[in-house]
Amino acid sequence: MQKILDAILADELDALAHLPVPQTYRGVTVHADEVEIFDGLATADKDPRRSLHLDEVPTPELGPGEALVAVMASAINYNTVWTSIFEPLSTFGFLKRYGKTSPLASRHDQPYHVVGSDLAGVVLRTGPGVQAWKPGDEVVAHCLSVELESPDGHNDTMLDPEQRIWGFETNFGGLAELALVKTNQLMPKPRHLTWEEAASPGLVNSTAYRQLVSTNGANMKQGDTVLIWGASGGLGSYATQFALNGGAIPVCVVSSEEKAELCRRMGAELIINRSAEGYRFWKDEHEQDPKEWKRFGAKIRELTGGDDPDIVFEHPGRETFGASVYVARKGGTIVTCASTSGFLHSYDNRYLWMNLKRIIGSHFANYREAWEANRLIAKGKIHPTLSKVYTLAETGQAARDVQSNAHQGKVGVLCLAPAEGLGVRDGELRARHLSDINRFREG
Ligand SMILES: NC(=O)c1ccc[n+]([C@@H]2O[C@H](COP(=O)([O-])OP(=O)(O)OC[C@H]3O[C@@H](n4cnc5c(N)ncnc54)[C@H](OP(=O)(O)O)[C@@H]3O)[C@@H](O)[C@H]2O)c1
Repeated sequence: MQKILDAILADELDALAHLPVPQTYRGVTVHADEVEIFDGLATADKDPRRSLHLDEVPTPELGPGEALVAVMASAINYNTVWTSIFEPLSTFGFLKRYGKTSPLASRHDQPYHVVGSDLAGVVLRTGPGVQAWKPGDEVVAHCLSVELESPDGHNDTMLDPEQRIWGFETNFGGLAELALVKTNQLMPKPRHLTWEEAASPGLVNSTAYRQLVSTNGANMKQGDTVLIWGASGGLGSYATQFALNGGAIPVCVVSSEEKAELCRRMGAELIINRSAEGYRFWKDEHEQDPKEWKRFGAKIRELTGGDDPDIVFEHPGRETFGASVYVARKGGTIVTCASTSGFLHSYDNRYLWMNLKRIIGSHFANYREAWEANRLIAKGKIHPTLSKVYTLAETGQAARDVQSNAHQGKVGVLCLAPAEGLGVRDGELRARHLSDINRFREG
């Protein structure tokens, strides 16, 4: 592994094809024999630091259409939090089911799960049939794994019946020194970014792009008022940038003054501090409070000069969904990709049907959408929102930060990269955008 890293650091990328691939590598795992360790605990007490391990695991065999990548950096996504607390399901069920689909897929069914759905790194090997990528290519990977043997996925690959999220529903993810991906997950690494910056947008940037911009999502247009929950978080920090970049008007919801300041740094002007306003959309566990929906709607109108949101960018789920449906404008769209606070949503359907609103479900992104989202990063139109970087051995703490909402934007993880700040190829583009690239950095 050291020879591989030395070659990358010395910029001798042509040498990589000739260096032997190590038989084992270090990766962050959960263990199948530990899925019950948190039984009986409240969700918030299930601590990823107990369940995420740094293990030496065997390097998987390389199949057709696949690549083995030397991972320089990765990032934490909320799916790693779900994996590490075994909620709502243990991911070993996903791996078992995938493993049954073919002899090649059976590689994924292991008693350990190497997690992580983002990476920036360098291709080491490609499998049979790969034309577009070669050893030495500097890449980032998106997390859509598809088989495309059924007709169903050929209009929109997210509809493939065998669609999976790499590093969550498949093994050999990105929080590791090596990762196994399908080559149709690969995209060029943005040349003006460091490894850890390039690794951080991937999953959330692509998801926010489909959810907000794509015709498969809310199809945002210039002038739209867009209500964005968690506007300085993983998804929200990209949604806010897409709204501003596309000529829309974001109304950013956050929970602290510090987060409000980050939204201002991105260029947003209309910001609601939900903690300061003290919204209580639920009177108790069973009943919502429409008066609080109204109070929230009135605040939005106060900021926008009377406009209701054309689009509500939803992901908190149960706690906010009733309010989201209520505040969307007549004919507006609520687009949802998650349910962080609970997946059984309730809302007053009269506001939906009488006002001709639409709810759209959105999940990750197809290759084209992920490519378009990455291209915007590569051109310096959208910027990483990396706030803090941990080492691979500290991944448990990094996941704990995200679980407890103690982070801003994205939290990065160095894998093979020995330090932050490496991997930049286009210093001139970087210099032009340096303050934007750094606006989420701590300290
Ligand atoms: N379907 C997909 O493809 C997909 C892709 C990415 C993520 N997701 C899911 O989307 C969710 C968010 O992911 P993320 O990466 O953006 O996470 P994140 O970085 O934790 O950001 C989420 C933000 O939402 C806000 N929030 C959390 N709980 C809330 C609540 N009860 N009410 C109002 N706001 C709340 C918080 O902001 P404030 O405290 O500042 O308000 C938080 O910063 C997760 O459940 C994740 O699994 C799904």
